[in-house]
Amino acid sequence: MSGAPGASGAFPEIERTLIGRERIAARVRELAARLCADLQAELAKDSGHAADPGRIVIVPIMSGAMIFASDLLREMPLKLSLGLVAVSSYPGKSLASKGAVIASELPANLAGKHVVIVDDILDSGQTIELVRRIVGDQKPASVRACVMLRKAVPRVATIPDDRLAEYVGFDIPDEFVVGYGLDYNGYYRNHPEIATLRRDAL
Ligand code: IMP
Ligand code: MG
Repeated sequence: MSGAPGASGAFPEIERTLIGRERIAARVRELAARLCADLQAELAKDSGHAADPGRIVIVPIMSGAMIFASDLLREMPLKLSLGLVAVSSYPGKSLASKGAVIASELPANLAGKHVVIVDDILDSGQTIELVRRIVGDQKPASVRACVMLRKAVPRVATIPDDRLAEYVGFDIPDEFVVGYGLDYNGYYRNHPEIATLRRDAL
């Protein structure tokens, strides 16, 4: 009896691995450690007025950030809560952002909280810019954003890269990637590595 098919065996359309499982896992641990240190510093600053360790809210942008956020959170031994938000920007078979639109209820009660927005990839920047704006409207104590990937493309966003996402896993070239939460037409999110698709699959 053969076991489960290997990751790329399950997806013949996968062309090439850009970032494999071990590199992803190591980088996730580094990002989590930096986030924890920075959030603990924020909480320490708060301690003047009724320090509440439960003031951290993680806002993963669905569905792309699902896998990354679940790995990241499990490396963050802090008291925190989750507020999901769904943003739609690549409907169907599109390879280019059609502009970000909020597609869910917004996380509420972010006033006074330390918010960490988590996404799979920074591309045009419109998604993060939009979520930062709607989170900021609730007057949180601090906002930071963490992305697994940052693509080398000109941004549409009006704020500079270092204020769009303060924490970046990997810089990648301008290629369409799937896996580790990223999809093409809804598929390949469960591929465990970050990979490119064969041109004839697009
Ligand atoms: P932005 O608003 O253009 O920065 O796009 C961000 C969103 O587009 C991400 O959350 C992804 O869901 C999606 N996206 C951007 N580039 C890629 C890609 O190469 N593969 C899959 N999805 C992508
Ligand atoms: Mg997405």
